[in-house]
Amino acid sequence: MAGEARLGARRLAGLASRLARALDVPVLTIRLVDPTGRWLDLKAAVGLSKRMRARLRRIPLESLVGNEAVRRGRRIVRAGNPDGRLPPWPRSLLRRYGAGAFVPIRSDTKVLGVLGVGFRESTRPAAAQLRFLDALGRQLGTAIHVVGAGESRRETRSETRFLRRIAAALSANLELPAILDMVTSAAQRLTRSRGGLVMLLNRDGTEFEIASTSRLEEGGSDIRGFRFPVEGSLSGIAVRTGRAVRCRDATTDRRALLRALQQTANVRGLLIVPLRGDSGVIGTLNVSSSRPRVFSDHDRRTLMQLGDHASIAIRNARLFEDVLGHRQLLRQLYSQQYSVLESERKRIAHELHDEMGPTLSAILINLQLLKERGMDTALDAKVVETESLLTGIIEKIRELAYGLRPPMLEHLGLAESMKWLIETYFSGGRLVVDYRVSGSPVRLDSDLALALYRIAQEALTNVVKHARAAHVKVHLHLAPTSVRLEVRDDGCGFDATRLGAERRVGLGLASMRERMDHLRGRLELRSRPGKGSQLVVTCPVEAVDARAAG
Ligand SMILES: Nc1ncnc2c1ncn2[C@@H]1O[C@H](COP(=O)(O)OP(=O)(O)OP(=O)(O)O)[C@@H](O)[C@H]1O
Ligand SMILES: [Mg+2]
Repeated sequence: MAGEARLGARRLAGLASRLARALDVPVLTIRLVDPTGRWLDLKAAVGLSKRMRARLRRIPLESLVGNEAVRRGRRIVRAGNPDGRLPPWPRSLLRRYGAGAFVPIRSDTKVLGVLGVGFRESTRPAAAQLRFLDALGRQLGTAIHVVGAGESRRETRSETRFLRRIAAALSANLELPAILDMVTSAAQRLTRSRGGLVMLLNRDGTEFEIASTSRLEEGGSDIRGFRFPVEGSLSGIAVRTGRAVRCRDATTDRRALLRALQQTANVRGLLIVPLRGDSGVIGTLNVSSSRPRVFSDHDRRTLMQLGDHASIAIRNARLFEDVLGHRQLLRQLYSQQYSVLESERKRIAHELHDEMGPTLSAILINLQLLKERGMDTALDAKVVETESLLTGIIEKIRELAYGLRPPMLEHLGLAESMKWLIETYFSGGRLVVDYRVSGSPVRLDSDLALALYRIAQEALTNVVKHARAAHVKVHLHLAPTSVRLEVRDDGCGFDATRLGAERRVGLGLASMRERMDHLRGRLELRSRPGKGSQLVVTCPVEAVDARAAG
């Protein structure tokens, strides 16, 4: 019955007085069935005093007029004195006219209301006059229906557009608070209500939490975060049945048990729809008015649709939150893994350097003693050979130990350690390494210094392994708040965008990224076939550790 409301009280009143004049009758009323289908509401009246109008504002459908005219679609005619069959008609009213008639206001499909006419004469109106009234009722019904259909079509079209826009905006959003705000204000707008509210169920479905509210009235208190049991609440009914719940006035409704909440939020008329998720209801979407109001079927359908969009968006946002949680967990795991790895490396380095190193050196000294004694020439040659093998092994072990755990990182800092790394491992061959340090010396956290050292080590290893480059530039820039490392070669390059798609994914780049991810840094890799490669790492300098200086 969107039409009746849209036809407007003023237009209906104008129509009623024109009809009363044309028919020359003292009393004329137009009543329409309300959206709940339980009442006949007075929409326009001629010849009724204000008091009378207030008294007769709505009459139950379960009444003589309702039953006869609306349910059965039959005309009622009363001639002469009232016979008491028309309570609660006030006598004062009945005195004003002699005969009365109620004719159904009907469209093609149903009875929309009742047209009431009071005649001056007390004699039964002529049959032709009554037939004319019947036709009038039909005409009125058709007009209301047509206007209503047109209005509701237009309204539906713009609502559908709005809903579509909201659905698109919701699906593009993954932040729960923003989604909830969007849903509550859309609910409010679509139903033209005062307040919108989303309540979400807790995990075991026993409690609601008010997750979001739209604008409250002046002075209204914020009820977000308020929790209450599902059992015994109106929203609980929506959850249990999976259907909408309507309530004309929460302050008088027998089912509305949460009076304290309703009073705080000044809630009278209420419409509650369940938020239906994949595996059951996840909460409710509520709209309310501050005056008694019966939300229409149309409101219910629209809110249900919005609720379905909202449920999907809420589920996606929750999944996204889970993903973020997992990423955080992964970061922690990586961080632990690195610290375990590095401490294990440190232990092995110490073992090699402090245990194997001295033992091997002792063997070397013994060999040198044997050589000095000079036993026989054949043996001497073997001793010399063994001596040089051993010297080689001692050097290798030293290198291995230093490689595993660059000892100077802690003493000399990152800049000097990288110099050592380049000179020891990457210089002297065909490749020319140009190493430059700029900025101001900063103390770096030992984790950060080690990560950058490892990244430089891997980047240079990649240059040697893959690039076939002649030159490589390594630039370390240290600033008080951030540090930047760049490794740029003039080698064969590769298609960095297709890494992992066609190209075998190695551990090197992945572990560089993980290291940066865990230190909240950024890694950029720019490379094109034939154009060399450039790796840039930037990382914020946060914690300052006195043990390591950049
Ligand atoms: N400087 C470079 N020049 C040319 N290609 C490179 C360069 N750096 C990396 N690549 C290419 O990127 C790929 C991935 O590098 P990544 O370090 O992840 O793996 P890898 O070096 O092949 O193996 P791993 O590091 O596990 O020993 C390499 O296989 C190589 O094809
Ligand atoms: Mg590599």
